[in-house]
Amino acid sequence: MVSTKDVQTLVKSKLKGCKFIIVSNREPYIHMHTPDGVKVKTPTGGLTAALDPLMQATGGTWVAGGSGDADREHVDKRNRCPVPIDNPKYILKRVWMSKEEVDKFYFGFSNQTLWPLCHNVFREPSFKKSYWEGYKHSNGLYAKAVRDETRGADKAFIWFHDYHLALTPKMIRSEAPKKQKLVLAHFWHIPWPTWNTFALLPWAKEVLNGMLANDLIGFHLQIYCINFLASVEKVLGAKVDYRTLNVKYGGRTIQVRPFPISVDFGTIDKLAKRPGVRREIKRVRAPQYIPYKYIGVGVDRVDYTKGIIERFRAIDRFLEKYPEFQNKFVFVEAGAPSRTRVPAYMNLNEEIPKVADEINWKYMRGYWKPIIYIEGKLGPDRLFALYRTADVCIVSPLQDGMNLVAKEFIAANVDCTGTLILSKFAGATEELKEAIVVNPYDVEGFADAIKDALEITSKEKRRRMKSLRAIVKRNDVFKWLEDFICVATKLLS
Ligand code: G6P
Repeated sequence: MVSTKDVQTLVKSKLKGCKFIIVSNREPYIHMHTPDGVKVKTPTGGLTAALDPLMQATGGTWVAGGSGDADREHVDKRNRCPVPIDNPKYILKRVWMSKEEVDKFYFGFSNQTLWPLCHNVFREPSFKKSYWEGYKHSNGLYAKAVRDETRGADKAFIWFHDYHLALTPKMIRSEAPKKQKLVLAHFWHIPWPTWNTFALLPWAKEVLNGMLANDLIGFHLQIYCINFLASVEKVLGAKVDYRTLNVKYGGRTIQVRPFPISVDFGTIDKLAKRPGVRREIKRVRAPQYIPYKYIGVGVDRVDYTKGIIERFRAIDRFLEKYPEFQNKFVFVEAGAPSRTRVPAYMNLNEEIPKVADEINWKYMRGYWKPIIYIEGKLGPDRLFALYRTADVCIVSPLQDGMNLVAKEFIAANVDCTGTLILSKFAGATEELKEAIVVNPYDVEGFADAIKDALEITSKEKRRRMKSLRAIVKRNDVFKWLEDFICVATKLLS
């Protein structure tokens, strides 16, 4: 297992004399006003948690969108804020956008055009020109902030994250001074669709041109790399090599590579054994809390790609088909609302509790009901207690680049008493072979899989979970970081 320390040492040595910049839409530290004064929040997402220790060791700059309502009060004239607040190790440089800019860039092109286009789940992407114009404009704001940080540097390694920033690499490369050695790398955290889906985008050429200004482009899976190469070949007529995964374009070679992201196995494993989690497990197991014999759990950002409604429909069918589980099976779903200004997300936030209520009404008996829907994010003790108590964790996205909940559940299931049901459309399925795989659209098959998962013997459950844990332990987030950084920094010499 690679440790945080190993990666920190590696990156530090490779980046000597080189300016290191990370660019992402989400920021690692958020200043928020609260009734008790300004508080600093850290987003709980795996990505910021993994990159923050790295930045703390290397001491570079992280350029990200300011999203907290007290963010502006905590930066200097150049919009910089040293972080972590109590022991600063690197610079967070915030990019400001007005509400109108955020509407077009984030809620518009990023989440109503690129997100549905790349996820391919029968939600029509919006091809509004104003969103595209807003996206270009905001990518320019990020480019300006990066330029401000690389000015005067001989060498810089800039690492972009995700679909919010497809155009920024080209904006930076085209304006860089000739003598500056620049390595640009991009990790795309969501799927890349087949070329004929991608080509629907009226600005497909511009998006690809923006991305090909990078030297290295990473995706979670080989198939996303292949889809990207095919898009480049068909849309731009560029020369691609499906064997080496390289693209030759504009006199440069761009490497496209798979790097499956993961979670911090060591930390989750440790946190899941804390006394607070044990106390919470006792509470969850008390009959007055949730009356159940079997418990299932689902944890998601509320997004139509996560297949939450489809999961509830499968639970409904399962209880109908196998009535012996009525009065015995309880499914706890924790859904954290997100992107709530986008109509599709607004509707989903209303629909999920309605469907849960409809199913609960159908089966409810006395105190027992099959679905408990918790709107919001669970605290770590409650979350890990549920992961440790669950007989089954259901991760059934309709399409997902990787899905870290599946890996988080495995890392937290320290007693090896749970089973994972995983959608065949989650990137994680490629590695997690001992999960029970379902097609979330196939209600019958899904219902049967829930029954199978609950009827698995303890011995078999243990065997599967042990093997899954070994995989996630070996291929944790530090391995992902190390692999990516090794390939990227080779390009610096
Ligand atoms: C996905 C994306 C990330 C994004 C996250 C949360 O995992 O790949 O870039 O940060 O969702 O979404 P949000 O819109 O809240 O940043």
